[in-house]
Amino acid sequence: LHSLPLLARGKVRDNYAVGDDRILMVASDRISAFDVIMDDPIPGKGALLTQMALWWFEQLKGIVPNHLTGEAPESVVAPDEVAQVAGRSMLVQRLKPVPIEAVVRGYLAGSGWKEYQDSQSVCGVPLPAGLRNASQLPQPIYTPAAKAEVGEHDENITYERTVDMVGEPLAAQIRDTAIALYSRAAAIAAKKGIIIADTKFEFGLNAAGELVLMDEVLTPDSSRYWPADQYREGENPPSFDKQYLRDWLEQATVDGQPWAKQPPPPRLPD
Ligand code: C5P
Repeated sequence: LHSLPLLARGKVRDNYAVGDDRILMVASDRISAFDVIMDDPIPGKGALLTQMALWWFEQLKGIVPNHLTGEAPESVVAPDEVAQVAGRSMLVQRLKPVPIEAVVRGYLAGSGWKEYQDSQSVCGVPLPAGLRNASQLPQPIYTPAAKAEVGEHDENITYERTVDMVGEPLAAQIRDTAIALYSRAAAIAAKKGIIIADTKFEFGLNAAGELVLMDEVLTPDSSRYWPADQYREGENPPSFDKQYLRDWLEQATVDGQPWAKQPPPPRLPD
């Protein structure tokens, strides 16, 4: 976009400043996992994920305020840029991001399953013995992660670490809000035959210091979506999300080195 200053080009999204207090978030068709951005975009992905996030924001209203301003993204770009942003962007409030990835899990997968096998707990949350890959948990658990520097993997941390980072009241509010959001979303998805195995929320603080839900919510980039009718405890379910790419990257090699351990790719040109 030439009409707005680029604030940050993320792995998947580009953020543009709209004045001092708003951001135009444009979701590209790029796909990334483990900090690797794939060369080939997926046509339509940015628009699809944006529409899903907008739908979920609507469903989750009432639990916590979200970052949407309610204004049309098309209203802040030049006329020749409308097609570029239409359907794939959100005009949002500028917030102070909280440096915690608020992950909630209803089932054991990914790093949750890995940690459980080592310690029978995830992020310090003790779990019953005898759980298997993809087991449903007795109740949803909050397993935060710290946002890592570019090139590093996000690190699972304990709730107590988040208290050290942001203080007890905010840490507890984020935990309780994330669990409430996941629980409502999982119940809605269950009615459509979809298991949301786990998901990640991000929050920011507005000028008044209030907690606001931000980013993209409950998309297949930030969640594991499993078809309930193909779910078998103990097996890797088909996953309607980025899991295929993660699995592939975990076994892919470049010059004999695991691809996921390669140095971060150069920044994309602005
Ligand atoms: O890989 P892991 O099991 O820790 O991921 C848990 C959940 O959090 C998954 O739904 C994943 O999509 C999401 N997540 C994310 N961004 C991260 C880390 C995890 O969206 N940086």
